[in-house]
Amino acid sequence: MIFTNDNKECPSFIKLSITQNGKEYNFDFKEPFRSGKQGLNKEPFDFVLTIDKDEYVGKGSFGQDALWLPYGNGAGLKVIRTENNWPHTLDPDQVVKNINYIKEINSEIFPNIEWATKADISGQVCVLTEMEDVQDIEMEYPRPAYMPEEDFNYYKDILNVPVQVLKKCISEFINHKLLPETSWYKNGGFGARNILDGKIVDFHLFEHKPSMYSFPVKECSTDECQKIYDDALDRYKRWIPIDGVPKWKGKIYQGMNFDNGFTMPGYSSDDENFDSYVKACFLPLDKVKDKKVLDLGSNQGFFDFQCALAGAETTGIEITKEDVTLAKDIKDKILKLEKSEFIHGDAIKYLHETKDWYEVIIMSSVLHQTHPDLYACDDFLQSLASKCRYFFFETPVGHKHYNFSLKQVTEKLQEHFYDVRMLYFYDCYSTGYRAVYICYPWDPPQNGPGVYEQIRKEGRLKK
Ligand SMILES: C[S@@+](CC[C@H](N)C(=O)[O-])C[C@H]1O[C@@H](n2cnc3c(N)ncnc32)[C@H](O)[C@@H]1O
Repeated sequence: MIFTNDNKECPSFIKLSITQNGKEYNFDFKEPFRSGKQGLNKEPFDFVLTIDKDEYVGKGSFGQDALWLPYGNGAGLKVIRTENNWPHTLDPDQVVKNINYIKEINSEIFPNIEWATKADISGQVCVLTEMEDVQDIEMEYPRPAYMPEEDFNYYKDILNVPVQVLKKCISEFINHKLLPETSWYKNGGFGARNILDGKIVDFHLFEHKPSMYSFPVKECSTDECQKIYDDALDRYKRWIPIDGVPKWKGKIYQGMNFDNGFTMPGYSSDDENFDSYVKACFLPLDKVKDKKVLDLGSNQGFFDFQCALAGAETTGIEITKEDVTLAKDIKDKILKLEKSEFIHGDAIKYLHETKDWYEVIIMSSVLHQTHPDLYACDDFLQSLASKCRYFFFETPVGHKHYNFSLKQVTEKLQEHFYDVRMLYFYDCYSTGYRAVYICYPWDPPQNGPGVYEQIRKEGRLKK
């Protein structure tokens, strides 16, 4: 296989041959390197790589769409397919731009990058990049002070990246205004582990996206934003106290920044970033363009805005009237979003009645309020799973009013979803801590309206 390119800053002659178990492979780069039972086995392969006058012989690895060829001297070559890359073909220029941005920011959470270029292989476009060969060494797992021993042991079994490493990644995403690819946290199987020795090795789909971190304002001055915010605070302050305790906590929940420099401050559990932006790093924002998203307990609309700006049609359901009024004000007067609606009502009733099917349903720190007993929410979870491809979920763990362990919560989700991925957890403003999950009712490429009910009937869901 010979790769050609006309980029003067990169090597011009690159030749690759691949063998595995004595068989030589020649890929057309139109299909994944392994598709069904075709292509490479899920184990290392042997390669001979010639780059200009240098020859490297070694063992390579692969994911669905990329080959990794370590030279044996601390660096290696990644070859990225662009054609037919689920759910869509990649734009090679965007991939090169993404890699060059990561090279430029020179962050500790990414490998050092030497160069990236588009190249041609038998009429197909691919992307080549030379970068540091990060070693897959054991990472340390310090126990977070807020986490009970039992949960700590469980988390080490189900999440093979220490939470401290994830926290650092999130901080860097926010600092450098990066939209990470949805599966940046993927962490299982051969070629599927993405964070090695504290560095993210698969990052070519990470985009520099300032609009994710400062919402784009359409003709609204900071004075006008201030008025909208002050009016909202006045409404919140008039909230009726519950049991003599004022309900208003002094600031809105979901902190938001706007690109005219205005900020509506919200909760920040680490005093560094608003929790809203931390959670946004786990939303499947690269999967929602032209799709429907439902946000149950949408609060001030932050997740809806993120998804709508990523091209989705969003519906937020929220029981607190003051939250809906502010969300609508931000949507209509500041962001002027058209495909985003907010409904004042009960999220449980709405979900029960809707006949729609959603790409993503979001329920972040709401289930414990609607179903304070984890063991009495099965009908709800089952109905929810039948109505979406992805379920984004956050929940308190070990909370004084919701005192369930990480294992109990995860196992409950596993009863209803084909794949349950705990992604992150953090110490938060109240008792216990919060855990963030993404759940797949069924394998995403195969899922669709009606599929979940069918596979449930056939008994194909894990118990
Ligand atoms: C802890 S806040 C979480 C807000 C937001 N989902 C987030 O994570 O940033 C819980 C939200 O759920 C709303 N909520 C609680 N029960 C609800 C229900 N039955 N229907 C709709 N919203 C509800 C509350 O009013 C509040 O806005």
